[in-house]
Amino acid sequence: MKTRKLGTIEVSPIGMGCMGFSHGYGDIPDEAYSIEAIRKAHDFGCTFFDTAEAYGPNLLPEHRGHNERIVGKAVRDFRKEVVIATKLHLDTEETRREGVAACIRRHLEQSLERLQTDWADLYYLHRVNQAAAPLEEVAAAMGGLIDAGLIRGWGLSQVPVDCIRRAHEVTPISAVQNIYSMLERSIEADVMPYCLEHGIGMVPFSPIASGFLSGKVTEQTDFSHSDDVRKFVPQLKPENMAANRPILDLLAGYAEKKGASMAQISLAWMLHKYSNVVPIPGSKNQERIIENLGAWNVALSDEEFAALECALDALPVHGYRGHVEINGSTMADWNREKPTNKA
Ligand SMILES: NC(=O)c1ccc[n+]([C@@H]2O[C@H](COP(=O)([O-])OP(=O)(O)OC[C@H]3O[C@@H](n4cnc5c(N)ncnc54)[C@H](OP(=O)(O)O)[C@@H]3O)[C@@H](O)[C@H]2O)c1
Repeated sequence: MKTRKLGTIEVSPIGMGCMGFSHGYGDIPDEAYSIEAIRKAHDFGCTFFDTAEAYGPNLLPEHRGHNERIVGKAVRDFRKEVVIATKLHLDTEETRREGVAACIRRHLEQSLERLQTDWADLYYLHRVNQAAAPLEEVAAAMGGLIDAGLIRGWGLSQVPVDCIRRAHEVTPISAVQNIYSMLERSIEADVMPYCLEHGIGMVPFSPIASGFLSGKVTEQTDFSHSDDVRKFVPQLKPENMAANRPILDLLAGYAEKKGASMAQISLAWMLHKYSNVVPIPGSKNQERIIENLGAWNVALSDEEFAALECALDALPVHGYRGHVEINGSTMADWNREKPTNKA
């Protein structure tokens, strides 16, 4: 297993998205099961764990830090061997009251306490909110935290290229965490080229398209749980799932040929495509977590990749992924929205 770099931070080629242990995909497992899952992922070779202060049941403020506590307990005995990424949201009232830098530092200190650690390896701004905190000010504050040894690197989440450029010019960014999968490739146009050129890592979230690319999420899957984000995902409407079936058929063919699962092929595809990509598939099932990490052992030849890419390019994608896009806005608009504590 060859490691990858997010800026200067070395990680396993696939990380673990821990959100599902607290939020987003229906019932959450017992804490003991979640902790065991993280430890088993570490035993398998995973050294990169993704969490956020917001991840808690139903994203309720009183559950803030639920997920960070689980990650902290799980990695306590091998903290130095792993890279922990967490994220913060800022709102206008608190930054006005405390000032941007002090506010970010307080959020970080609270996260560190829940994570039982003295430092975070990667600290992301979960969503840019210019009204609460001008991006340049956030970047400068993150630089201060790096100088203080409280974080090793920083990043932005779900951002267009102009935000990355502006922030990177103030304090170099280690990684960007944007949505990316075979069903959502908009970052390929300008975000990826910029990141590659500037040595910035890309950490795709929802890399299996919320499970769809595994072939195991179907029109019959129940999304009715109050904390299941999939009911807001247009791509997972029955008509779009049916229309996107040719992409699953393509994946199924490769999976059979390579003796791999469909989810593994979808991850192997992005690992082959970009050297700076470190996907963070999310699962609350111990077997599927190991299956997804095992994608780092699925090597596509250049010819296999080229044929897959060519076939993918020829297949239209039906339905957008995010609930925001339902209203017809673009990724750039996401950053002008009043931030919510949505994932
Ligand atoms: N920065 C952001 O704004 C943001 C937003 C969303 C997520 N994230 C991060 O990104 C991580 C991953 O994103 P995600 O969880 O939304 O998307 P994902 O990894 O594309 O999909 C997760 C869903 O797919 C299912 N799944 C995963 N692997 C599977 C497999 N091999 N076979 C069958 N089903 C499988 C999971 O079900 P089971 O649990 O039943 O296996 C879960 O329902 C999160 O954990 C979180 O850390 C960040």
